[in-house]
Amino acid sequence: MAINRIMVIGAGQMGGGIAQVAAQSGLEVVLNDLKPEFIHRGLAVIAKNLSRSVEKERIAVAEKEAILGRIVPSTDLADAAAVDFVVEAASENMEIKSGIFRALDKAARPGVILATNTSSLPITEVAAVTSRPGSVIGMHFMNPVPVMPLVEVIRGIATTDATFATVDALARAMGKTPVEVNDAPGFISNRVLLPMINEAIFCVYEGVATPEAVDQVMKLGMNHPMGPLTLADFIGLDTCLAIMEVLHEGFADSKYRPCPLLRKMVKAGWLGKKSGKGFFEYA
Ligand code: CAA
Repeated sequence: MAINRIMVIGAGQMGGGIAQVAAQSGLEVVLNDLKPEFIHRGLAVIAKNLSRSVEKERIAVAEKEAILGRIVPSTDLADAAAVDFVVEAASENMEIKSGIFRALDKAARPGVILATNTSSLPITEVAAVTSRPGSVIGMHFMNPVPVMPLVEVIRGIATTDATFATVDALARAMGKTPVEVNDAPGFISNRVLLPMINEAIFCVYEGVATPEAVDQVMKLGMNHPMGPLTLADFIGLDTCLAIMEVLHEGFADSKYRPCPLLRKMVKAGWLGKKSGKGFFEYA
């Protein structure tokens, strides 16, 4: 099935980024969220990113308008009936995702692939609530989506080769580099990244060094573009904790235990950049 029109569910940081990249690559995008104001907020971020590209003379104003014109808002999951592909980027909560996938399975035409941008929930479990587990797959973009080249393409236990091949090709058409991964807790990205971040938090918890020092070591010594604690703030400390819990539970191995300081900061509402305070302060 040719993919010309896709639905992106969730107009937040990830969904908005996916919608932008898809529209930039020429796809028609139905951007779905619970409320019109969430979609307007997402569209405003996309417009701002595109304006920056206009200022930098990478695209013309007309192109910016054309890209925005390819994104139409939707607050009804039944609109999935009119698309060739769906990618879901809603909250990282299995109950919410299951509800969305049940509704999508009813609305979307037979054979339409339903992808999830989940950063750590099992693809196999999401697929199992649908009548088309062979057409369910993980399509995990990295943040910020317009900048990061990677897409992890995650095969659930039932994902067919045809589904994988279609999503692999779609990711390339969106200008990304897909990497094939089998369904396992944290996939590759978060299984490797989050324990490093958690260990950086242990360094602060145990008084080994300040957050500034930890980040400097990893930036200047390992050439990371952001230190692990700045990156944790950027991802969201609640998300970091949720991913560590998935790894801890999924592998039943104490090496993935979340640092108590991470738990304490999340309990305090210090969630990183989005709440104005995490390991660092944000205006
Ligand atoms: N949206 C769109 N574009 C953005 C952006 C955003 N949120 N943030 C930065 N950019 C663009 C800038 O416009 C700039 O573009 P140009 O080069 O075209 O001018 C470019 O990115 C570089 O930005 P800056 O010069 O402002 O800053 P920088 O050089 O420090 O780069 C960064 C910013 C790309 C975010 C870089 O710091 C970086 O790569 N950080 C690490 C990001 C990372 O690890 N992401 C993965 C997070 S984990 C994840 O996503 C998985 C998960 O499930 C949790």
